[in-house]
Amino acid sequence: MKPLNILLIEDNEADAFYLKEILSSSEREIKIDRKNSLEAGIEAINDKDKNIDVVITDLSLPESKGLETFKTLMENSPEDLPILILTGLNDKELALNAVSMGAQDYIIKDNLNPDIVQKSISYSISRKKGNSTIQKQKEEIEEAYKKLQDQQMQLIQTEKMSSIGTMVAGIAHELNNPMMGIINCVQFCMDSHAQDSREYEYLKLAEEATNRCIGIVKNLLTFAHKEHEDGFTEENLQNLLEQVIMLMDYRINSQGINIVRNIPEYIPNIYVRSNNIKQVFLNLITNSIDSMEESGEKELIITFERCEENIKISIEDSGEGIPEELINKIFDPFFSTKPVGKGTGLGLSICNNIIRDHSGELSIRNRPDGGVISEIILPARSKSFEKIKEVV
Ligand SMILES: Nc1ncnc2c1ncn2[C@@H]1O[C@H](COP(=O)(O)OP(=O)(O)OP(=O)(O)O)[C@@H](O)[C@H]1O
Ligand SMILES: [Mg+2]
Repeated sequence: MKPLNILLIEDNEADAFYLKEILSSSEREIKIDRKNSLEAGIEAINDKDKNIDVVITDLSLPESKGLETFKTLMENSPEDLPILILTGLNDKELALNAVSMGAQDYIIKDNLNPDIVQKSISYSISRKKGNSTIQKQKEEIEEAYKKLQDQQMQLIQTEKMSSIGTMVAGIAHELNNPMMGIINCVQFCMDSHAQDSREYEYLKLAEEATNRCIGIVKNLLTFAHKEHEDGFTEENLQNLLEQVIMLMDYRINSQGINIVRNIPEYIPNIYVRSNNIKQVFLNLITNSIDSMEESGEKELIITFERCEENIKISIEDSGEGIPEELINKIFDPFFSTKPVGKGTGLGLSICNNIIRDHSGELSIRNRPDGGVISEIILPARSKSFEKIKEVV
């Protein structure tokens, strides 16, 4: 059995000597390191080489008295280190208070008895061990519960998205046929008018507007299209982004938002679940648009960069930014600063899960000059896809 390392914090020579004497009769090998001040005691506790198993401390030390001594000691000790209080008969109440604050036990100096002291030490060690195990299990259960809650929320959202997707697909499909009819009629009428006539000009405008509607419907159909379980397909990220921007065209134009694209000519295709990535772009761009409602200058800067084996996509806005005290909460499911009915607070937690599912990273921070920058890093070779594609 390894020797028991006891740290004794006691400034009174006689008391320290007596306790050492008592412990020397122990069957188990004991090493006592004695310190005569609180500061020296804390230093010894945190010295990893000393490997202290238990602390026995007097509460009345040169630089600290009473419960303050115990409090300081506890604050500066590892959580699983048992602390025993050494006290006089007339300070028993103080010792009891220390026990109620977390000390393992107390030993009364006036009637030190080897048997009691040794029992008290071994009980305090096993009790602290028990407490730490319970605490650890409690934390594990809490973590598992939180994980379960997150998964449940994700499930609800996936379910919601999938029913919205089905509904949108249905509506888009229904709209497709009448719009094809309109365009045929418009083109038929155009044929019977001279190209420089006023009628032809109006019909041309109607044709363009209808074509735009057909484009939007086509986009909605692609967007709502369901993928296979493992639907990783080789995609051009800019195409996915443009499809999302087209869907948001109305909000972008009506708010007068200027989109700046910093996209290099060549970005390699990568393996992604395309609908999921579009959902991420949609959520991040929607957040940016929402944040710029009150802004004077409204600018959305989208940058693609190839860095080493990754592709980095940044979406920057000139919106109101995120208060620093909230920045740690924005990924929490259901955290939203938007009015009831406007935001569910699920957008970013879903984006985070999707990007993690692609072995990537999503981070969001304030820009120094105002607004927010959302950054997605995706591996150019997706680990989750067996068929690794060589990229140039
Ligand atoms: N670009 C941004 N600018 C300012 N605040 C942002 C931005 N992006 C996120 N936030 C903050 O983070 C919160 C959480 O965003 P998240 O997308 O998860 O939820 P939401 O937009 O409120 O609701 P939902 O996306 O579910 O409709 C937002 O309510 C907002 O306070
Ligand atoms: Mg959102």
